[in-house]
Amino acid sequence: MAATGIDPGLARRVGAEARRVLASNRRTGVSEWDGMRFDFVCPSPTHYPFQWFWDSAFHAIALLQVDPELSKQELRCLMQGAQPDGFIAHMLLWEKHRSPEWLMPDYSIRLAHPFYTATIQPPVVARALERIFDATGDAAFVREILPPTARFFDWLARVRDQDGDGLVAIIQPDESGLDASPKYDAAMGISSQPPTETLPALRRSMQRLFRGYEGLSREREPQIDLFLFEDVMFNAIYADGLRALARLAAAVGLDEDYARRSRGTLDALMSKCWDEERGVFWDLAGSREERAKVLTFTSLFPLILPDLDARVARRLVNDHVLNEQEFWLPYPIPSVAASEPSFDPAWLTQTTWRGPTWVCVNWYLYWGLRQHGFADVARELARRTVAMQAHGGIREFYDPRTATGQGATSFGWSCLVLDMIAAEG
Ligand code: GLC
Repeated sequence: MAATGIDPGLARRVGAEARRVLASNRRTGVSEWDGMRFDFVCPSPTHYPFQWFWDSAFHAIALLQVDPELSKQELRCLMQGAQPDGFIAHMLLWEKHRSPEWLMPDYSIRLAHPFYTATIQPPVVARALERIFDATGDAAFVREILPPTARFFDWLARVRDQDGDGLVAIIQPDESGLDASPKYDAAMGISSQPPTETLPALRRSMQRLFRGYEGLSREREPQIDLFLFEDVMFNAIYADGLRALARLAAAVGLDEDYARRSRGTLDALMSKCWDEERGVFWDLAGSREERAKVLTFTSLFPLILPDLDARVARRLVNDHVLNEQEFWLPYPIPSVAASEPSFDPAWLTQTTWRGPTWVCVNWYLYWGLRQHGFADVARELARRTVAMQAHGGIREFYDPRTATGQGATSFGWSCLVLDMIAAEG
């Protein structure tokens, strides 16, 4: 592929807008939650006013292009939510009183505490810590943030990998961060229906799920198999995080077993999720581990792992990433392959992850492509991402055919484009 590279004028314009968003989404103050100080970037002032777990990790990476001290602050604030048993919630509600609408049943969140949720999100934080260390060489910061980060990975192994196969499970769709992805439709009892019916049906199904978990301990929740997904994206991020932890632990003189655990998760992805015939990875649903064969970007995500077999990486890229009937659309990578009946690029369902393109996905795959020798494909992906944002703004997601911006405005992790622009330099 002869990639032409990012247009410098567009990069300047998009970069400036991303910096504006990172500055204007910053939230600082003292919380009613034990008088703790908060200082973080919220995903969107109008739509998402709290601190979200994987969003914050992405914000920390984007902030490296603004001020590494802000990146550190982002993770420090997040780690104030780390619990003694290792659990870290997917949302910290620092300024809860300012957004009471979030506590209405419609929002489908389950609280473990007045100020945090009972659920998790993908552990991008280890990768963020690694990037901060690479950018600053600050070993003292690693010594500060590594222990709660590692405890969270240990919590995941203990509570969410109770079958010990190296793959951790999520127990409700939001835990992957891919809330309404059609790959969960069958498990959530959502059948094909008019687009306007999808969201109400999902909400009803979430309420049923929440009722099912009422009164159970965290250890018990995965055991009842109400919604159990060994999600390929979540596990690729988990394995990548373990890889990063191994590097960080070695850098500050700690000797831990993360490298072996990372390898174990990759081996399990290969033995349980890889489909040699189709050339993609599938999530495993339920304790019977049935393959959920809905083609979403998740199926490509092990590309982010440097140790992925080169032949497997080539198949993912050549047969799927670059396939114009699936993922290589004018503004890739769509969250659902264009070949799926559920593909909803125009956002008719008015809910998330059912077709549009998200910048955090492009960012992860950008680095995955580079590390597997597809620098030209990565460059083209970065170029189209910048062009998409020049057209659509710094939005939550985009129509992969037209680059029209959709969802929340001024959306935090879409500022990851700063990292891709810097890398393409
Ligand atoms: C939506 C996304 C989720 C994200 C949150 C805040 O719920 O699906 O992944 O963390 O918004 O941006």
